[in-house]
Amino acid sequence: MDKDSKIYVAGHRGLLGSALMKELGAGGFGNIVTRGHRELDLTDKKAVFDFFSSESPDYVFLAAGKVGGIIDNKRHPADYLNVNLGIQTSVFEAATAFESRHVVFYGSSCTYPRECPQPMREDYLLTGMVEPTSLGYAAAKIAGLAACRVYNEQYGVNRFIALVPNSMYGPGDNFDLEHCHVVSALIRRFHEAKIGGAEKVTLWGSGRPRREFIYSRDVAAASLFAVENAGQMENRHYNVGTGVDYSIKELGSIIAETVEYEGQIEWDTSKPDGAARKLLDSERLLSLGWSSTTDLREGLAETYRWYCEQLAVSRG
Ligand SMILES: NC(=O)c1ccc[n+]([C@@H]2O[C@H](COP(=O)([O-])OP(=O)(O)OC[C@H]3O[C@@H](n4cnc5c(N)ncnc54)[C@H](OP(=O)(O)O)[C@@H]3O)[C@@H](O)[C@H]2O)c1
Repeated sequence: MDKDSKIYVAGHRGLLGSALMKELGAGGFGNIVTRGHRELDLTDKKAVFDFFSSESPDYVFLAAGKVGGIIDNKRHPADYLNVNLGIQTSVFEAATAFESRHVVFYGSSCTYPRECPQPMREDYLLTGMVEPTSLGYAAAKIAGLAACRVYNEQYGVNRFIALVPNSMYGPGDNFDLEHCHVVSALIRRFHEAKIGGAEKVTLWGSGRPRREFIYSRDVAAASLFAVENAGQMENRHYNVGTGVDYSIKELGSIIAETVEYEGQIEWDTSKPDGAARKLLDSERLLSLGWSSTTDLREGLAETYRWYCEQLAVSRG
């Protein structure tokens, strides 16, 4: 990418989008276009075509999507399917029509089978049924990964780059308990317990499942790396992980330490655990020269600082 290339960051206010904005700014890329959700609904194909026609972005980072936690995914699976498919279809078609150089699309680790061998390699995709609670979201993401591949094949290009990050966290994350993921949920629960002087916090499950967490800045850096190295990449998706997983119990202790919550942590084993382990094998991207650089404790400290700043702002 040249420093003056026109770059469209879709979803620039979200977790990944805001990290991309910072990473692009730090890299000296100054010609960035954005539109908020209210200004441009990316499921509206005509509006997306009008936008591409007037802006003609050279590069697109597609960090817009409907993203949520287990509860909301279970309640609104059709919305997760439709919104994500709608966004992908409009943006892929418009980027093809207006010949963007590269479009980075983000899949998800829930596209892999529920009972997937660990660590999960890219070629395990479509070898088994996904976790049923995220079927709508996962089906849209699988379609997006397939779309990257077939659009490249049909049009004889390497325009679409598909990355599959594992669970992301960082500043800009969603802390609404109905919609958020485990890291932001635990930060909020422990913070509120500290402020409220609670003696114990009860968390769901046994704490034994193991998960891999990646800082949003590292995914943003991987995205820029992928665009810069697109010439060396195959027409298949690439996993983006840290290679290190933690049990939810370990994560809970680290977050409690970060937040300085000193009470007890109790585990409600009557609640379901989910898959035993979700760790990506990111060797293919690592072999091209990328690696994550943010340690979990460091990333959590930055995220907690951001969360406290937001609370201070909202208190006025
Ligand atoms: N978070 C993770 O752990 C994770 C892991 C792997 C992959 N991913 C993928 O990475 C991408 C970014 O995720 P994220 O966690 O950064 O999500 P996020 O924080 O929820 O941000 C998503 C952004 O998309 C915008 N958006 C949603 N629907 C839209 C629409 N119809 N038109 C225009 N904008 C729309 C949202 O705007 P509003 O808030 O105004 O609606 C928001 O700014 C997604 O594709 C996601 O599937 C995320």
